[in-house]
Amino acid sequence: MVVKAAMVAEAENFGFQEWIESEMNPLPKPGSGAGDLSPAPKKENAVDEIDKHFMATAIEMAENGRGLVEPNPMVGCVLVRDGEIVGKGWHQRFGGPHAEVEALRSLESIELAKGSTAYVSLEPCCHHGKTPPCAKALVDAGVSRVVVAMADPFPQVSGGGIQYLQAAGVETTVGVLREEAENLNLPYLKLVQTGRPWVIAKWAMTLDGRIATRTGQSQWITDQQARDEVHRLRARVDGIAVGMGTVIADDPMLTARGNHLSQERTRVLERFVFCRHRLPSLGSKLVLSAREAPVTLLAGAAVDAVHLDELRNAGVKVVALESPDAAAMVIEGLDLMGQNRMTNLMLEGGAELLASFFEAEQVDECHVYLGAKLFGGQAAKGPVGGAGIDQITDAVPYRLVSMDALGNDLRAVYRRDICKE
Ligand SMILES: NC(=O)c1ccc[n+]([C@@H]2O[C@H](COP(=O)([O-])OP(=O)(O)OC[C@H]3O[C@@H](n4cnc5c(N)ncnc54)[C@H](OP(=O)(O)O)[C@@H]3O)[C@@H](O)[C@H]2O)c1
Ligand SMILES: [Zn+2]
Repeated sequence: MVVKAAMVAEAENFGFQEWIESEMNPLPKPGSGAGDLSPAPKKENAVDEIDKHFMATAIEMAENGRGLVEPNPMVGCVLVRDGEIVGKGWHQRFGGPHAEVEALRSLESIELAKGSTAYVSLEPCCHHGKTPPCAKALVDAGVSRVVVAMADPFPQVSGGGIQYLQAAGVETTVGVLREEAENLNLPYLKLVQTGRPWVIAKWAMTLDGRIATRTGQSQWITDQQARDEVHRLRARVDGIAVGMGTVIADDPMLTARGNHLSQERTRVLERFVFCRHRLPSLGSKLVLSAREAPVTLLAGAAVDAVHLDELRNAGVKVVALESPDAAAMVIEGLDLMGQNRMTNLMLEGGAELLASFFEAEQVDECHVYLGAKLFGGQAAKGPVGGAGIDQITDAVPYRLVSMDALGNDLRAVYRRDICKE
């Protein structure tokens, strides 16, 4: 029998809802009764170049938290006095002090905060979560102006931090480098707004657009330098998903490996396999390593119940998906991951699973590695299978974010261009 209980119970114990609720103690406004969480009126002040300059530094520092702070957002803060940076900080790890507190702590003397301007890449929080509220810390330290790149859509903040500052007599400016700040935290924004993780599809293809030879071999299309980069990406996401075709063809391990990886990360990478009919063999690398690194099967109703029990005994987690069709399975799987507070999911193939994610409109970012080889062959797969679209106008638009040469290979990163849809 397929049991949904394990992951659902886990999701319920430590889920998305609880994350929201754990942050449920809004800070009362100074001099008022209960906290008012109604969104603050959007205030668009004239943005001057000095503000942009210091905000750019705050955003740059926020980036240091990538892969370490999720499901929290990355946030950076700079304290400026008489045109000079006197303090700076960023949110360094989940559960740790927020950026504003780090910046205040970095001051040579707390006296320097009096009359200073704080540049923060995200609205300061106004609730007791894992740490005390930052809006209050800034007010208590005597900061007289706070410049914020964007409001925090997190339900328990959502304008409340700005309102708190204003009520305490602190001058606020909102919207400086807003787009840059939003781009920094797109996965966080997706998780808060939809309850689903940001999906990064990664594939390696030949110059002629094949992800495998006609016999299904794909190891390796790119050289070591490109493969090291893939491990770097694995090391900062919460989960990796593949389809059964890839498990059978490649017997992948799907862990983040290599000496080049930072050791700071504390979260565990979860490996997911989407299974409709076939199941991984007990001798596969994924199953053999299931007790060291978690493996979860997202299983449809048609899988073999006896084999599933054997897999469970081998340490594999099993989650039953109820949705009958492929794209709906993807949505159901992502919803469960979101409930487990996963912010970034890496999708490592193959062509059929990618097709289901595209059909479900859930591919947010593509990391395309181009290897300097030609495979040819009508039967050799391209990155995305399925039926495909009929009209070019139906194609989902993507925007180029970056491109770099890795030895003899290329990597191009594209993001879904929501504006053009
Ligand atoms: N170059 C690269 O970057 C790269 C990366 C990965 C894979 N590959 C290559 O790609 C090939 C495998 O691709 P593939 O298309 O055959 O396999 P796939 O996409 O990995 O797996 C597809 C299978 O997964 C199962 N599945 C379960 N839920 C699904 C869902 N919601 N949507 C789609 N499939 C679902 C189905 O099998 P059941 O019905 O049996 O459960 C389906 O046939 C291999 O040759 C591999 O080497 C290349
Ligand atoms: Zn905070």
